[in-house]
Amino acid sequence: MTAGAVWCHFVLLLLLCTTALWTAEISCRNEGGETVDWFLLYKLPKHTESENAGLGLEYMYMDSLTHAWQLSKYLVNMTQSALGQTLKQLYETYESKNNSIAYAIYNDEIPHSKSYNWKKGHTKGFLLLDKSQGFWGIHSVPLFPPFLEDGYAYPPTGKPYGQVAICITFKYDQFTEIDQQLLSYNPSIYNCSIPNIFQADLPNLQKLCAGSKLPSAPQRHLSKLQSARGETFLHFAKSHLFVDDIYVAWVAQELKTDLLAESWQHSGHRLPSNCSLQYHVYNIHLIGTPLNLTFYSSNDHSKWCVSRIYEDQWTCIGDLNRAAEQAWRSGGFICTQNQYIYKAFRHLVIHYESCNDSPTWI
Ligand SMILES: *[C@@H]1O[C@H](CO)[C@@H](O)[C@H](O)[C@H]1NC(C)=O
Ligand SMILES: *[C@@H]1O[C@H](CO)[C@@H](O)[C@H](O)[C@H]1NC(C)=O
Ligand SMILES: *[C@@H]1O[C@H](CO)[C@@H](O)[C@H](O)[C@H]1NC(C)=O
Ligand SMILES: *[C@@H]1O[C@H](CO)[C@@H](O)[C@H](O)[C@H]1NC(C)=O
Ligand SMILES: *[C@@H]1O[C@H](CO)[C@@H](O)[C@H](O)[C@H]1NC(C)=O
Repeated sequence: MTAGAVWCHFVLLLLLCTTALWTAEISCRNEGGETVDWFLLYKLPKHTESENAGLGLEYMYMDSLTHAWQLSKYLVNMTQSALGQTLKQLYETYESKNNSIAYAIYNDEIPHSKSYNWKKGHTKGFLLLDKSQGFWGIHSVPLFPPFLEDGYAYPPTGKPYGQVAICITFKYDQFTEIDQQLLSYNPSIYNCSIPNIFQADLPNLQKLCAGSKLPSAPQRHLSKLQSARGETFLHFAKSHLFVDDIYVAWVAQELKTDLLAESWQHSGHRLPSNCSLQYHVYNIHLIGTPLNLTFYSSNDHSKWCVSRIYEDQWTCIGDLNRAAEQAWRSGGFICTQNQYIYKAFRHLVIHYESCNDSPTWI
């Protein structure tokens, strides 16, 4: 290499480095801290059908670059995990008190809190954005994420059962849609900052954050969202006034697909598989991961569903369980026809309950 070429490489490197700094954009991040359009994380349950019990902190991970489940080399309680890397931006924003950035974290089960508000959404998530872009995370982990002053951690109560999280990076304009959806959600927000520069675009989020009176919400609203890299997502939001099983009464019929549904069915009255309407919903019974780890749905707290037949390709991740009393709760699902996400989730299903099975076997 000539001296000129070396110099050239040096300048190029410098350029690349400064561009990397300039584009420290708010985004979902992978375990290397790199920006990704979306990621999915499946925290494995502590109790599985395999011989060696895990810690309840291991997880499978996939994103817009890797395309298939991989067992992470990190544990979900580590700051190097995808959730740790992504939420780091939220904790740093809190530290820096930057008034050009908006954020909110919500959960029906708030850390260190004994009270429970049944009127708020049965929904858990986090948002962070500036006027350029940001991310929205939807997950199933109670008491998570920790308060902003506490920094990143994973609650011990989230260990025993399986949990799912999805993070999607969106350009700023999509957050006005998300703001609408959150009005129907009526989430229980516990830490937030929606500076006044966002008032015009995020009026509902600002009211939710301030705890002020909300305008009336649509009973249900479907919204088409596009990720920063152009992946299409359909978002279903229902308020507590749409009193029905969201899986059967809305999602399956709207997507025109039979669904296999994984959800928490311990508390209250679990709903059996349902073949009453044109499109059916079947409860998943047994999950098998690509790592040959199998577990029963009774060990899983995650909430997701997939099309039964491969041609339909729908995958939805969300908030609500197939339990009778959840009809009265607000919440929703985010759905996609991304083929990699579909394959990843559909292949997990080993056994589901037909409509003729006795509903009492669990
Ligand atoms: C994560 O959990 C493991 C197992 O309980 C523990 O040994 C480790 O110290 C934890 N790491 C962090 C960063 O909390
Ligand atoms: C505050 O956030 C904005 C938007 O992300 C960014 O452009 C700016 O550099 C941040 N300011 C500081 C002091 O970090
Ligand atoms: C986060 O939420 C908790 C519970 O509402 C509250 O005690 C705490 O002060 C909040 N922290 C911030 C930074 O708003
Ligand atoms: C199936 O779900 C629909 C919509 O919630 C409900 O009207 C119907 O009664 C359910 N069928 C059975 C057999 O539970
Ligand atoms: C899982 O089990 C199948 C069949 O027993 C075997 O062919 C495959 O190699 C196993 N995969 C892993 C990752 O252990």
